[in-house]
Amino acid sequence: MARVTVTRRLPDGGLDSLRVAGHELVENARDHPFDAAQLADAARTSDALVCLLTDRIDRAVLEAGAGHLRVVANVAVGYDNVDVRAATDLGIAVCNTPGVLDETTADLAFLLILAAARLAHDAEADLRAGRWAGWGILQYLGQDVHGATLGLVGYGRIGKAVARRATGFGMNVAHHTRHDTGLPGWVPELDRLLAESDIVSLHVPLTHESRHLIGTAELARMKQSGVLVNTSRGPVIDEEALAAALEAGTIFAAGLDVFEHEPEVHPRLLAAPRAVLLPHVGSASIATRTRMAQVASEGARAVLAGETPPNLVTSG
Ligand code: GLV
Repeated sequence: MARVTVTRRLPDGGLDSLRVAGHELVENARDHPFDAAQLADAARTSDALVCLLTDRIDRAVLEAGAGHLRVVANVAVGYDNVDVRAATDLGIAVCNTPGVLDETTADLAFLLILAAARLAHDAEADLRAGRWAGWGILQYLGQDVHGATLGLVGYGRIGKAVARRATGFGMNVAHHTRHDTGLPGWVPELDRLLAESDIVSLHVPLTHESRHLIGTAELARMKQSGVLVNTSRGPVIDEEALAAALEAGTIFAAGLDVFEHEPEVHPRLLAAPRAVLLPHVGSASIATRTRMAQVASEGARAVLAGETPPNLVTSG
């Protein structure tokens, strides 16, 4: 029997495989976020950690668990919060939750595409605030989504799920990745994709190469009628540069589910026109969040049983 610390409350049923395997579960009944010292303490006293993307599992935390912590199971597909290199150095396995949140996240990306292009937030805010004085032919004129060109930056499982939805909306779909996908619509140069797309949606993991991938120069490549959507990780966009582009009207609108310094949102973005801002809810459906917890737990169970789970993350 191993000791498994679960850093936050998870959806019901999420920990079943660990429970059935007979492991001791140390749960965070108060559901308060662990600070660095509490994470290190958990690592020091556990064989496995089941954690969230809001937990910073850095080298110091992992070193606290050196010698007995066997696995960190992150209940997220992204794992930029975990120092995978340090984990590998210390012989600690890392698991994530690929495959189970693609469709739910793609739904949310599409929601942001539609809401941003059609100025849904500004229109709704006016209505709720009593500023709507009746139908007007010049009010809230957005950009059409049907028939538009969608440029996907990153073309993994989630990017492809967004592409499938876009086809149903009669959009032309292109994608940019650093390596040739060999698939129709691949654009080798990011700048060209940005210049030719009406709507740009980001689907890359956060790495040191993708940090601030979209900054002042890249925003300047986009059409003035262009819409930028981000459901990946906040730091992929330079928020200061995006706020400036929205304020100056050099792009049309933005839809963001993720932010550079969550839970803080850049005050200029909060005040920027034509921005739809959501609090990192890409995978937030009951079924998907439950499945994510189950997949992470199953990965931890497998590592503890000496198996190699399919959701093992490697550092290379
Ligand atoms: C959510 O952002 C995830 O990475 O699963």
